[in-house]
Amino acid sequence: MAALRIAVANQKGGTGKTTLTVNLAAGFHRRGETVVLDADPQASAGDWARLGNAEGDLPPIRKIDADAVRTSIARAGRSSRFVLVDCPPHLLSDALQQVMGEVDVVLIPVLPSPLDLWASVGMAAAVQDARQGNPGLRAYMVLNQLETRNALSRSMHQALAEFDVPVLASGLARRAAFRNAALEGGSVYRLGKRGESAVSDVESIIKEVLSL
Ligand SMILES: Nc1ncnc2c1ncn2[C@@H]1O[C@H](COP(=O)(O)OP(=O)(O)OP(=O)(O)O)[C@@H](O)[C@H]1O
Ligand SMILES: [Mg+2]
Repeated sequence: MAALRIAVANQKGGTGKTTLTVNLAAGFHRRGETVVLDADPQASAGDWARLGNAEGDLPPIRKIDADAVRTSIARAGRSSRFVLVDCPPHLLSDALQQVMGEVDVVLIPVLPSPLDLWASVGMAAAVQDARQGNPGLRAYMVLNQLETRNALSRSMHQALAEFDVPVLASGLARRAAFRNAALEGGSVYRLGKRGESAVSDVESIIKEVLSL
């Protein structure tokens, strides 16, 4: 079976790329052979695992060099069922274009405010560019740090509708579990009861991505 290769990218910093990558990876790891490729030279996904990966929680996390992105993804895709690539927060990096040239899906985490969304607008153009060499590339925005109490504002709905990239129905709520898991060097899956709601956010995204 061909691997499903997913990049998590946004030119904007701090939108939850590494949080989404690591927790999705933990969920995919429970379904089949998974590997995380850390394309961020600042290597936050890699640092995460070095904190102390509890037995079986996270799949292997490998740092990849900017000049060997395509071959690294291709190689990982031959030996794993799921490949996740955590990208650095630069739009124009050659590495990001290479990643998007090689994966099946790109997930773009965005914070739920119109200003944050517009700061990610360059990603829509980058996806269009990448489709010239990789016409099957699927791209979705993923809302992160959703406030569970409030519905999305009308201005956010408008901004989303104007964006060229569709948004997944499921997103991640803002939850202490996501921060705590990171501090403890693992995913929300290993937090037990404390992580239940966070796990269900992640599971919804996985099911949605697998059904698309
Ligand atoms: N859903 C969430 N709930 C609570 N905290 C979150 C959530 N998502 C991310 N965070 C926190 O927000 C911060 C930024 O997240 P993260 O490091 O995943 O972003 P990033 O896009 O990878 O950043 P960079 O662009 O620097 O690589 C972290 O402290 C993380 O723990
Ligand atoms: Mg990061």
